[in-house]
Amino acid sequence: MVEAIKNEEDIITLAIETSCDETSVSVLKNGRTILSNVIHSQIEQHKKFGGVVPEVASRQHIELINDVIEKALKESGKSFNDITHVGVTYGPGLVGALLVGLSAGKAIALARDIPLNGVNHIEGHIYANFLEHPNLEPPFIALIVSGGHSHLVHMKDYGEYEILGRTRDDAAGEAFDKVARALGLGYPGGPLIDKLAKEGNNEKIKFPRAYLEGNSFDFSFSGLKSSVLNYINTQKMKNEPIIVEDVAASFQQAVIDVLVEKTVHLALEKSVSQVVLAGGVAANSGLRNSLINRCEKHEIDVKFPSLILCTDNAAMIGCVAYYEYIRGKRHGYDLNAVPNLKL
Ligand code: KG4
Ligand code: ZN
Repeated sequence: MVEAIKNEEDIITLAIETSCDETSVSVLKNGRTILSNVIHSQIEQHKKFGGVVPEVASRQHIELINDVIEKALKESGKSFNDITHVGVTYGPGLVGALLVGLSAGKAIALARDIPLNGVNHIEGHIYANFLEHPNLEPPFIALIVSGGHSHLVHMKDYGEYEILGRTRDDAAGEAFDKVARALGLGYPGGPLIDKLAKEGNNEKIKFPRAYLEGNSFDFSFSGLKSSVLNYINTQKMKNEPIIVEDVAASFQQAVIDVLVEKTVHLALEKSVSQVVLAGGVAANSGLRNSLINRCEKHEIDVKFPSLILCTDNAAMIGCVAYYEYIRGKRHGYDLNAVPNLKL
């Protein structure tokens, strides 16, 4: 079916992502060829608050969206008249932020009288792997770890998911950000901890690993986070030094051990020979290396997106929108933002 439509005429998708603090617009040809992928990060605006402030994010999206659309069109060499399809994130995310992208997407679809597909942001992270790896096909196990989500998913086919594990408290990226904040490193914490961890000893401090009961594939990172905060406070009270590199390395290893163990265990249990990493935390070099090493031993193939496709971007949203479109799905202009949208 994919081929049949491709042969008729190219589908040019304009995709919009505004679920959190990146205003991003992408133009794609037939879902997997990125013609442009403009990402405007608002990190500078949120840094001083130590995290994303929803109201600031919405306002920023409003100020930026038209310029980012224009830039994405220009870089792709296309005009509004060439666009044949619109894809836009409608959840999960910050409601005010989502509404900006959604309104823009609906307005373009209405003005051009072209089909509209709303996209689940988490699904977008998985699909970043299809953009990166042209031959990738389901089934595979996906580990999606971002600032807001930690999911272990068995993707059986396009649009067909079995969710086997999710976080019971903090998401993996959230734990990175909170620990970085406690260490006075700044925001976002993931990349900073990743960098420092390379200089530290990951066995120096014994932080807990929450494997949870029995064979659970759920995650829990709040105990680990509290343990790091306790360690920092205790060191301060005892007037003993805090070796930031060792704390970063030991904390990061505790996160990685749990993520890798559960992912490999699930792949073996489901007899699936491919694993894909997705979401902002998939940018973590320690996680990538550990997963590759563990999977190699079991002859499981590991794939992850390049750094720019790991964190929030509109190209991954356009890729999902395309596959939804060719599967005959459409959304109407009554599509609303769904802040807690499930996969
Ligand atoms: O996917 P994403 O851009 O936004 C959400 O959908 O949440 O993920 C952002 C998260 C942040 O928590 C950030 O600290 C984390 O991804 N992150 C990393 C790294 N790069 C970004 N975490 C660990 N190591 C990294 N290199
Ligand atoms: Zn994300």
